[in-house]
Amino acid sequence: MQEIKLELTKNPKEKPADQSKLGFGRIFTDHMYVMDYHEGQGWHDPKIIPYQPISLEPSAMVFHYAQEMFEGLKAYHTPDGRVLLFRPDRNIQRAENSCKRLCIPPVPQDDFLNALKTLVRVEKDWIPTTPGTSLYIRPFIIATDESLGVHPSHSYKFIIILSPSGAYYASGLNPVKIWIEDDYVRAVRGGIGEAKAGGNYAASLKAQVKGEAGGYAQVLWLDGVERKYIEEVGSMNIFFKIAGKVVTPQLNGSILPGVTRATCLDLCRSWGMEVEERRVSVEELVAAARDGSLEECWGSGTAAVISPVGTLRYENDVMEISGGGIGPVSQRLYDTVTGIQTGKLEDAHGWTVEVK
Ligand code: COI
Repeated sequence: MQEIKLELTKNPKEKPADQSKLGFGRIFTDHMYVMDYHEGQGWHDPKIIPYQPISLEPSAMVFHYAQEMFEGLKAYHTPDGRVLLFRPDRNIQRAENSCKRLCIPPVPQDDFLNALKTLVRVEKDWIPTTPGTSLYIRPFIIATDESLGVHPSHSYKFIIILSPSGAYYASGLNPVKIWIEDDYVRAVRGGIGEAKAGGNYAASLKAQVKGEAGGYAQVLWLDGVERKYIEEVGSMNIFFKIAGKVVTPQLNGSILPGVTRATCLDLCRSWGMEVEERRVSVEELVAAARDGSLEECWGSGTAAVISPVGTLRYENDVMEISGGGIGPVSQRLYDTVTGIQTGKLEDAHGWTVEVK
């Protein structure tokens, strides 16, 4: 593992006075982590420096062919003053998978974890303490070769920035309205849908704008081939409770393997609930909404945590779920996940990692 050089700021910023108004990803802390890659040299020179603009040539490959990946996780303050990360090993493994798909040399896993812990330790006073808030961690890698040829870059930058954040949705834990998109698609099997890559989010914007114009918070994507099977929502995976069973689309190569998705599955199974990872068609969903067997719907994600869905729209059907309120499974998952993350509930699964 490489030693991280520390250069601390001489001009620390004021921390946000009102933690209830943080929003998501709008404020950034005093420092950032940077590590460079050059072919022949590997990943080298890890450092923590004051948060600042980065300088790149206009020809840097990331600007042209989007060779980029990112991750998202959070640090939490516990009531007894400890600092916890939640399942960082999962993010680090997913980052490695994303890198491999995008021809980016993966960051060694021990350097990645050390980077997360060291930066969070330096910035621990930025972790907000108000319920529902946390320090969002955004690691990302960009291709920096100065070249317009379409091929993998030979140089990269790995950067981590931190943002004290509140709820992802302006509505907080109140149920969101979701637009099931029947025209545009996000990803296809064999593409980069299961990688956490900026390009997937660029592909999502057109439909997101359309959904928002109709008063919907996010888009639920159907598969890119038959446009029939449910995949995921813009910033989260999706779960349903249908006739007493917890159901979520099975991972198929075009769905992001969410860390909170895996956590929901683990928790529901540990509670003795019947859980199915399988294909879910939109027709099945509409029929379940019509006959009353669609009991609950929620999204799961690092940023979104557990986000109850109160309304789903598909073509001319507008389906209200759980009477537009929060269902009991969504509420139990939210309470349990956030309870473990913030050290208020016992971590029986060994999911949290303390930053000392
Ligand atoms: C996360 O939940 O961490 C994400 O990366 C979703 C995001 C695009 C806001």
